[in-house]
Amino acid sequence: MPIIAKGLEGVIANSTSLSDVRGDEGKLLYEGYNINELAGHVSFEEVIHLLWHGRLPTAAELLRLHEELADERELPEEVVDFILCAPKNANPMDVLRTGISMLGLYDSKGGKDSLDPTDSLKYLRAASITAKMSVIAAYYHRARQGKDLPPINKELTESEHFLYLLEGKIPSQEAAETLDVCYVLHADHGMNASTFSARVTISTLTDIYSAVTSAIGTLKGPLHGGANEGVIQMLQEIGEESNVTAWLDKTLLEKKKIMGIGHRVYKTLDPRAPHLRAMAFQMCEGLGENKWMKMAERIASLMKEKKGLNANVDFYSAIVYYSLGLPTDMFTPVFSIARVAGWTAHILEQLADNRIYRPLSEYIGPEEGKKVIPISQRE
Ligand SMILES: CC(C)(COP(=O)(O)OP(=O)(O)OC[C@H]1O[C@@H](n2cnc3c(N)ncnc32)[C@H](O)[C@@H]1OP(=O)(O)O)[C@@H](O)C(=O)NCCC(=O)NCCS
Repeated sequence: MPIIAKGLEGVIANSTSLSDVRGDEGKLLYEGYNINELAGHVSFEEVIHLLWHGRLPTAAELLRLHEELADERELPEEVVDFILCAPKNANPMDVLRTGISMLGLYDSKGGKDSLDPTDSLKYLRAASITAKMSVIAAYYHRARQGKDLPPINKELTESEHFLYLLEGKIPSQEAAETLDVCYVLHADHGMNASTFSARVTISTLTDIYSAVTSAIGTLKGPLHGGANEGVIQMLQEIGEESNVTAWLDKTLLEKKKIMGIGHRVYKTLDPRAPHLRAMAFQMCEGLGENKWMKMAERIASLMKEKKGLNANVDFYSAIVYYSLGLPTDMFTPVFSIARVAGWTAHILEQLADNRIYRPLSEYIGPEEGKKVIPISQRE
């Protein structure tokens, strides 16, 4: 008897060893490591290795991975031209999606060689896409402001390099470390919507660029990655802590969703949120700007009280990104830069034991038996 599950809630679509979202316990595991064991203790590059190869790297493997990623940072000239010509008011997620899609055109094999699960080239394609995501996003942000595009630097880590490209100067250690922890916390998250898109797309044996392009388009939506941008817009709209209660009551009465609150799987705390909350506090204190955190805390406690819902990863990451000086519309691209580690790992895992996704649908249209009326007689 087929089961109908709207939004595929509760449906297990496949097996994975990459990450486990334990909603009832409020736990997140990457390859057996609790996220609390990883956040603040290992770098984003170490997590990339963990997801792609199933284990944390040795020092020599980490160095090799760093070199592989750094060697893949340079964009094809045509993609740089596209970034320079893209409308200045475009959504950076659209530029990222189109940029990644374009990379497939300038890959001599169109990424098709990444389909062989036994071939080492699959890691090269994954590294190439992972390394170029942040370059496309940062270059577009520079280009839309009419600023120069800083030359690629091969020495810097992924988080340092992104901030360097955005600002045109080497970032502070504190800023890079903060972003790095954000990357670690966002790298993978079970069968979330964008990861599922990537797996569905690659399961047709199309190319890796198409799969990542699908994932970016999916992450862009306000119910997924786009929620973090909505958090800052919400705080700006509310304006003052004293306005929170009235604003929240009115918004809930209008049956609108509060961005950064609630989760499909976590029914207790989102385990990533406390890390981001602590960083958000620290950053706001450092900037001498506590207003946002006070408002956020009030919203979080009222939502817990009124609806029994907790703040999710986006709620506090928005404040961390804001405090890092990132423009609001770059929040979701930053999420993508981290999540591409998980997307590519899932693509490789899917290819290693592939079966095309082909669920059923419940037909709710009219009964069979309608007859075609000639067009001249139709009303
Ligand atoms: C994450 C999210 C999409 C999960 O959706 P879902 O599992 O389909 O949950 P539902 O939308 O069915 O919500 C269940 C109930 O909680 C309420 N609810 C869930 N999230 C809510 C929110 N952010 N604000 C207000 N009410 C919310 C729903 O209105 C619904 O109430 P009802 O039963 O009285 O109708 C949803 O919580 C949401 O839209 N959150 C805001 C966007 C966000 O932060 N996304 C990032 C997720 S990491």
